[in-house]
Amino acid sequence: MTPPADPALADALARLLPNAHAPYSGVHVSAIVETADGRRHEGVNVENAAYPQGVCAEASAISDMVTKGGKRIRRIYVASNLPGFIWPCGGCRQKIWEFAEPGCEVVSVAADGAAETHTIEELLPLGFRLERG
Ligand code: THU
Repeated sequence: MTPPADPALADALARLLPNAHAPYSGVHVSAIVETADGRRHEGVNVENAAYPQGVCAEASAISDMVTKGGKRIRRIYVASNLPGFIWPCGGCRQKIWEFAEPGCEVVSVAADGAAETHTIEELLPLGFRLERG
């Protein structure tokens, strides 16, 4: 357990939640990626009638980061309309890992503003990295 998230951040996550397109699961998720230079990129989950085509909030936020030229994730915040804390799915852990700075923090923010943090290394030990040469 870590101290409550910065209230402005918890607010920003909560304000994104209604934008999620989640007519199939009803689970609204928001994510904010923070880069080393302090920039923030937002995302929500975008479901599809062809279920596997759905995109997680974390993946949306990472796409926004990459689109805007961001390279490295220092921290990623996630929130949802479920009770308690949620944690990125396995696929999103690998997507975060791809861009994570060492020690990159994944911060789950509950509806009451409470926060819990794990590093990406804790959430994805031995993630896949393609080293060539
Ligand atoms: N979802 C996310 O967006 N992020 C997560 O970390 C876990 C799950 C989405 C996928 C789907 O749209 C809905 O939540 C229910 O699984």
